[in-house]
Amino acid sequence: MHIDSFAQHKKDAAAVTAKIREIFFLSADPKNVSDDQAHNDAFFSKWTGYYFSYEPDLILLAWEDDKLLGYLMIGTNSRKAVAYYDSRNPSYRTFADQFDEYPAHLHMNCHPSSRGQGVGTFLLEDAYARLMKKGLKGLHLVTSPALRNVGFYRRNGFSFELLRDFKGYPLLFMGRKLALV
Ligand SMILES: CC(C)(COP(=O)(O)OP(=O)(O)OC[C@H]1O[C@@H](n2cnc3c(N)ncnc32)[C@H](O)[C@@H]1OP(=O)(O)O)[C@@H](O)C(=O)NCCC(=O)NCCS
Repeated sequence: MHIDSFAQHKKDAAAVTAKIREIFFLSADPKNVSDDQAHNDAFFSKWTGYYFSYEPDLILLAWEDDKLLGYLMIGTNSRKAVAYYDSRNPSYRTFADQFDEYPAHLHMNCHPSSRGQGVGTFLLEDAYARLMKKGLKGLHLVTSPALRNVGFYRRNGFSFELLRDFKGYPLLFMGRKLALV
């Protein structure tokens, strides 16, 4: 297994985006996946567009030969991203008061056939090293408290948790300080 970044794929960017997109939709709640291509495009863009536009070097890709096993996307300045998300994903503001302590934000998924084999942990460890080199002090994600991935993040050092409601949906903020690695 090896990791590279989307920014290294200028020549095959469209093919790599298609592989990321496949994993994204295989990982999405089926109620958010439609037969309508325009709806799916908008949904994919809502959750990944920021990273493709602003931080392609921190879209980390785990490969076995040419099979994409999983991806991890990072936005390094969550406070700055608030203005971008306000018109696209208003839930993003829910934890804005935590962005100074945990300035980087992540989105990740693994291919269903590659889960439970350490790929996610490998991607996170690669990300920590890159973020610490940039001097970032904390990383966070937002998930649902009922999902199985909560245990995965806890085991990977996301020890700060904050539960809040957004329009009737519980959102779980999980933070990890990077200086303690
Ligand atoms: C969560 C995820 C990124 C972890 O990557 P991974 O390579 O599978 O993780 P590792 O092998 O390093 O660690 C194993 C943990 O991954 C998670 N995991 C493994 N297989 C899984 C599956 N089929 N479905 C959901 N989570 C799974 C579990 O939390 C597991 O720990 P557990 O068995 O104690 O519950 C990956 O499993 C995944 O993409 N899951 C589905 C989508 C998701 O939850 N994405 C994160 C959104 S915030």
